[in-house]
Amino acid sequence: MSQLSVGIVGCGLISEAHLKAWSTTDGFTIKGVFDTNAEQAQKRAKQFDVANIYTDLDQLIANCDVVDVCTPPATHAMIAEKAIAAKRHLVMEKPMVTDAADWTRMTDLIAKSGTKIAVIHNIKFLHSVRQAKQWVDEGRIGKVIRVQREFLTSATNDRMLVGDKHWSHKLPGGRWFETLPHELYLTHWFAGPLEVDHVTAISTPNAPSGAPADEVMVSLRGASCIASFHFSANCEQNRRMLILTGTHGHITVDLLSDFASITTAKDSKWKRAVGAPIVQAGQTILRSAPDRSRYGVQHLRGDSPHQRIIHSLAKALQGKGEDPTPIAEVDYVVRNCELIGREIDRQVAAARAAQPAHGIK
Ligand SMILES: NC(=O)c1ccc[n+]([C@@H]2O[C@H](COP(=O)([O-])OP(=O)(O)OC[C@H]3O[C@@H](n4cnc5c(N)ncnc54)[C@H](O)[C@@H]3O)[C@@H](O)[C@H]2O)c1
Repeated sequence: MSQLSVGIVGCGLISEAHLKAWSTTDGFTIKGVFDTNAEQAQKRAKQFDVANIYTDLDQLIANCDVVDVCTPPATHAMIAEKAIAAKRHLVMEKPMVTDAADWTRMTDLIAKSGTKIAVIHNIKFLHSVRQAKQWVDEGRIGKVIRVQREFLTSATNDRMLVGDKHWSHKLPGGRWFETLPHELYLTHWFAGPLEVDHVTAISTPNAPSGAPADEVMVSLRGASCIASFHFSANCEQNRRMLILTGTHGHITVDLLSDFASITTAKDSKWKRAVGAPIVQAGQTILRSAPDRSRYGVQHLRGDSPHQRIIHSLAKALQGKGEDPTPIAEVDYVVRNCELIGREIDRQVAAARAAQPAHGIK
């Protein structure tokens, strides 16, 4: 099979994971890079020994079979439309686009052009999350009745909350819009397309400029399942948790240490006497040795969720596998990101209008 060529657009932080992934993908060659900041493009080209540094986007699109977009979200629609019009395959960092109207226009173009699209919904490719999905699919926790996600951070822990210049601050809902795709595709994957039910956004006097609503709770509802996302800019603990509650047990995933634990134990007198959390801790420790060895080996190999999703797209492009991000999942993310982001902004604006004298930020 002939080699397909890949062009990377945007050579900032996350491009490194993409370049690493493509450089280990059989059947694909990194043809060139482009960044509006020429220095950044040169840095990545040197790091990965890439021959071509393009000076404009059209040149890259004309020369590459796959266009891989690693630029800030506000630029995604413009770049994607050009690549689709040229019938190029697309890899897009999440979120696909920031505006649902752009997406509606684009879906028609995608259908006509026959182009393949993968949006980097990488947390689905985290080992612990795949383990959780396997447990759910095997029926280990029964029917999923709750999906709970915590994204609790602070300016000390989160590079996007530092200062007032990061591009995420201009997105609907500020910094939270940057992570919202993760929460939404995970919900879609585990519980289907739940509907946004309620958004509560509060702005405390500590709110950083990147998260003018520094405490946010989103709830979603389906016929038999509820989901909730909590975003905080005030938590020094830095938690990234996914908790799945089922009719027969629950699964807790710590995304930062890529570790999943499951409990299906029923209440009983002896468990109360020993302490149910102590019984569960024992079971978790039994699982931990093989899991941590696997984690260590993956780290040594430089294996990452970005590598796994890009390898999966590569197989789909070679006709050997399914698309890693079905269009219905992307559609769900784009439409609900916009809905939630705009509602956060509306509540912040309403709070400011109601209490200007008290200096709500
Ligand atoms: N999937 C994940 O886990 C994950 C993690 C981090 C970032 N991201 C996503 O990746 C994207 C980039 O984030 P980042 O943190 O790497 O940003 P970044 O600011 O570090 O890098 C962005 C790069 O794009 C360049 N750029 C800006 N506009 C451009 C344009 N029109 N054409 C070409 N280059 C342009 C900038 O000069 C910069 O070098 C965002 O969509 C973000 O949400 C995803």
